[in-house]
Amino acid sequence: MATFNDRDFRSAMSQFCTGVVIVTGISEGRPVGFAAQSFVSVSLAPPLVSICPAKTSTSWPLLRAAGSFGINILGADQHPLCMAFAKSGGDKFAEFGWATSAQGTPVLEGALGFVDCQLEAEHDAGDHTLVIGRVLELDVFSVDRSPLLFFRGRYGAFDDLANP
Ligand SMILES: Cc1cc2nc3c(=O)[nH]c(=O)nc-3n(C[C@H](O)[C@H](O)[C@H](O)COP(=O)(O)O)c2cc1C
Repeated sequence: MATFNDRDFRSAMSQFCTGVVIVTGISEGRPVGFAAQSFVSVSLAPPLVSICPAKTSTSWPLLRAAGSFGINILGADQHPLCMAFAKSGGDKFAEFGWATSAQGTPVLEGALGFVDCQLEAEHDAGDHTLVIGRVLELDVFSVDRSPLLFFRGRYGAFDDLANP
């Protein structure tokens, strides 16, 4: 039996600093998406990445059905975007500029980078799903802005970009 409770688990995991991405896609002609910190680069050959949508996510079933999704890597100045996409329902894209990638995926204006993926595999993972995406296209839009960081439940910026 575990020697820790849910709060202990969350507290320990919050010691790990991550970036924040918006997972986007098109479902029945409409843009859909949600904020995630679970984005990880997995493999170079073949190029694979992963995300972990919660089983409560309302956007993921739509993206799964579409068979493709995009990863928009947020800059520190995009906290409002993170907040808007961390809610379920409504038109999350209404307040923000976006364009369409060559694969037809929504690319959010101001993202530091973008990764266009085809759904490769899904694995059951408790109250989440481990999703593997095969990378089809990549874009780097900015190399001098800080990423949006998420650490111990708070947001921050990387303020030492000049130092190697
Ligand atoms: C910083 C941050 C990180 C998050 N990371 C994830 C994540 O990795 N997976 C996930 O399913 N939800 C994550 N969420 C929560 C979802 O964004 C939130 O549940 C959202 O309402 C889901 O929208 P949907 O119902 O349209 O899918 C995160 C939220 C925040 C603010």
